[in-house]
Amino acid sequence: MDKLNIRGGHRLSGDIIVSGAKNAALPELCAALLVAGPVTLDNVPRLQDVATTLKVLRTMGATAERSSSQPDQVLIDASTINTPEAPYELVKTMRASILVLGPLLARFGQATVSLPGGCAIGSRPVDQHIKGLQAMGADIRVEHGNIVARAARLKGARITTDMVTVTGTENLLMAATLAEGETILENAAQEPEIPDLAELLIKMGARIEGHGTHRIRIQGVERLHSPSVAHRIVADRIEAGTFLCAVAATGGDVTLRGARADHLDAVIDKLREAGAHIESGQSAAGEDWIRVQSEGRLRAVSFRTSEYPAFPTDMQAQFMAVNCIAEGVARVSETIFENRFMHVNELVRLGAHIAVDGHTAIVEGIPRLSGAAVMATDLRASASLVIAGLVAEGQTVVDRIYHLDRGYDRMEAKLRGVGADIERIKG
Ligand code: UD1
Repeated sequence: MDKLNIRGGHRLSGDIIVSGAKNAALPELCAALLVAGPVTLDNVPRLQDVATTLKVLRTMGATAERSSSQPDQVLIDASTINTPEAPYELVKTMRASILVLGPLLARFGQATVSLPGGCAIGSRPVDQHIKGLQAMGADIRVEHGNIVARAARLKGARITTDMVTVTGTENLLMAATLAEGETILENAAQEPEIPDLAELLIKMGARIEGHGTHRIRIQGVERLHSPSVAHRIVADRIEAGTFLCAVAATGGDVTLRGARADHLDAVIDKLREAGAHIESGQSAAGEDWIRVQSEGRLRAVSFRTSEYPAFPTDMQAQFMAVNCIAEGVARVSETIFENRFMHVNELVRLGAHIAVDGHTAIVEGIPRLSGAAVMATDLRASASLVIAGLVAEGQTVVDRIYHLDRGYDRMEAKLRGVGADIERIKG
């Protein structure tokens, strides 16, 4: 298993190019299942989760390959699907495989997707995906650990999910594009990856309104088309937010190229409250950028995770690392996932003072962390350990970074490019 070896204490300065969003790439790769023809996606991040999704699509009979000349481009052709099934071996490694359920059912009238198992950051059920598809007329059973879904043709429906669910909204949105009549998704997620997916679907001929709001309206069409469907994936706001936190913590001056500040309002507000200086804009060529400058010790800031546009749960661990070395005490409340404080014990190994009380962690900032061997437990927890390692005195070794590789595109190379002392140890 690969590890990261970090020697802390270096200021970061320079430019980092932000990759395409993992959480947009995964549904958009699955959306290609809706058409019998080629779909080209650009700005596809090089991540393990993307590789797994391409494998899922190939297992079903689709062509799904990275371009050899342009590595950030992926071409999918789902005209040759012969097995509308996502097997356990792949689903168990990535819950987001559930995103094939809606498109397969809508296009082929049947789908078998292994039921995702337990997950390190909470039970994360998929009942809302199932409830929504049932409301659209699907017959859904769980047989031998698989979700087995059938429907002659899905029918438009008005669906109100019990809670705001990101992949649930995406699955139902994709399914509704081919349903008969109108579907209204109430209580829809508004995360920027959803309008990005909707824009791709509209390029395929889907009729969608209200994406990016809590009510999405879809007029089903009989067939989506594909001639020359090409789409550039939106920038990864969580990757950008992670680098903002890293620079805020280490001190320095870094410009994130390709990153959209308007997708990170809640995080940027909190970083400013902590004392970091952040500005953003667009280059003459139309490229978005965010610049972060940070000097001296920051102030600890409290926050509470919630659905977009509020503070993202996917940034909780990284911002907690910033609070660990800030001045004062911060309360960090996690409202989206149970059990998403697994980084706390590892941060404590680096000397952090954190006490967990139910869904709230109380972080008492200290001037210095001290390097140690730590273990990554999930994707964003890994990123928080990297940030802590960058500011800790001495050497930090982060083990099990396969979690990090699931969602960050060459993170250590990007950090090295701005002056971090970080290297991968192949294991
Ligand atoms: C997506 C993101 C993930 C992010 C999360 C919350 C992707 C691929 N992943 O995950 O990075 O952390 O949104 O912003 O986009 N729930 C149910 N039943 C359901 C669905 C969800 O109870 O059928 C609950 C979950 O357990 C959780 C909450 O709803 O407590 C939100 O989960 P959801 O938005 O669905 O997360 P994901 O889409 O899995």
